[in-house]
Amino acid sequence: MSQDILKAGVIGWPISHSLSPRLHGFWLDQLSIHGRYDAVPVVPEDLASFVRSLPENGFQGVNVTVPHKEAVMDHCDKIDDLALRIGAVNTLIVDDQGLILGSNTDHYGFKQNLLASGEIAAGPKERAAVVIGAGGASRAICTALEELGFPKIHLLNRTVSRAQSVARDLGGPILPGPLSDLPALLPDIGLLVNTSSLGMKGQDPLHVDLSDLPMECLVTDIVYNPLMTDLLRQARERGNKVVDGLGMLLYQAVPGFEAWFRPMEKPMVTDALRKYVLA
Ligand code: ATR
Repeated sequence: MSQDILKAGVIGWPISHSLSPRLHGFWLDQLSIHGRYDAVPVVPEDLASFVRSLPENGFQGVNVTVPHKEAVMDHCDKIDDLALRIGAVNTLIVDDQGLILGSNTDHYGFKQNLLASGEIAAGPKERAAVVIGAGGASRAICTALEELGFPKIHLLNRTVSRAQSVARDLGGPILPGPLSDLPALLPDIGLLVNTSSLGMKGQDPLHVDLSDLPMECLVTDIVYNPLMTDLLRQARERGNKVVDGLGMLLYQAVPGFEAWFRPMEKPMVTDALRKYVLA
């Protein structure tokens, strides 16, 4: 019987703090699936051999996290167009022929989390979005914001050349600039997103004065530790709607789970799951 178990996991280095085993474990349990999902520490030197041996080791696939999201692209047999455009892969699926397919679900996770919050609808928007940070997560988020209908995306980063690279690689309505542009942009925007690590436990806080932000502007942060970052707290206290970053983590896990284990009727991202994952 044990050979029938469906096997998946998350690879990274270090990996011990990943919440993914808890969240996939919750779904496996809820859906009574005979499967397992483990965190597997993989050092960069072992990445190629680990990925190439996924089929013979009985894996349906794995999630890929820091620091492997870009390097893993060299070891896939096929990468979907969206992941190629974003330039990062966070989900591997082993197909029926044993081929390794790479995709990026951060984009889906960010978009679904915003749509599910009910605070934003798909379709053309009048106001621009501001994205802080130009790392890997930012690339997926800029792509999602374009699809959500933002006419302009101001991409602000400490290292402006990195924001310029993202704008060049992705194309579309992305306008790169320094963090110091933020105060002048605030009065005219409809969405403010922090994708940088500022505000994360153990990192510097994100210092921003939101006094000029329109009250209709939605504020979101991809940092989920702490759940209520200083940015979100400040926005909420002045009456703006906020969406925290945990939902993105939960939604980005759905496509992988559905490919490896079983489709869900609809994404099972519930308050019970949020509580379980954070406990
Ligand atoms: P991820 O893949 O999660 O996006 P990353 O690629 O390491 O992570 O990107 C981290 C982001 O946080 C970057 O935009 C980084 O700015 P730089 O490109 O200038 O490094 C930003 N960041 C991290 N620490 C920062 C700090 N102290 N001040 C300003 N920005 C910071």
